[in-house]
Amino acid sequence: MGSFPERGYLFQLASDLPASATVIEVGSWMGASTCFIAGGLKGAAKIYAVDNFQGLSTCGEDAAWYHRHFQSLGKASTLEIFQRNFSELGFAERAEPVVSDSLAAAKTLGAAGAGGAQGTKGLVGEVDFIFIDGDHSYDACKADIAAWAPFVKRGGVIAFHDFGSRADGVTRAIFEATKAGRFAEIVGVANTIIAFRM
Ligand SMILES: C[S@@+](CC[C@H](N)C(=O)[O-])C[C@H]1O[C@@H](n2cnc3c(N)ncnc32)[C@H](O)[C@@H]1O
Repeated sequence: MGSFPERGYLFQLASDLPASATVIEVGSWMGASTCFIAGGLKGAAKIYAVDNFQGLSTCGEDAAWYHRHFQSLGKASTLEIFQRNFSELGFAERAEPVVSDSLAAAKTLGAAGAGGAQGTKGLVGEVDFIFIDGDHSYDACKADIAAWAPFVKRGGVIAFHDFGSRADGVTRAIFEATKAGRFAEIVGVANTIIAFRM
């Protein structure tokens, strides 16, 4: 889960976006990070919150924590909790949950007409800000970067949680993408969040 400096940084990144911004979050859990992003947005800006809402983690001790916590909820999904948190804070209009595996969601949101986008390429190249905090294994994070980076418009921002943390697969995947020139520049860092401009 995120620290307060990280929550504040998400709020700040969202505050810098235009009123018409489209945002995608991959890995929303119960909506804490989504709410801080939503709090910074203005106008008609909107977030697609992509999650299977099954509380799955592949990251070492976090995996056990998520599994235990999910089991203790006694629910089949965290979607209802996500939606309740969002609407109690008055953000219901801002978020569209996408109940899906990350890579399947990238196909859906990249398909023609997705998100009401004009033309034939869905949201590819149309997104102002993507925050990735889903599956923390190396292979999954690498696949998420490959699948989601093309959605960010030129000059837009892609940010990741858990860079430099014990989730070493995330760090490795981001480091490799940086070395391969996937990102134009670093926008900033707050604890384990790192943000890049595309
Ligand atoms: C670390 S939590 C997200 C925490 C949230 N961003 C926050 O700060 O409050 C990771 C989330 O990613 C989801 N997740 C993991 N692997 C996924 C996948 N392959 N596709 C979609 N969601 C996934 C899990 O269900 C979990 O809710």
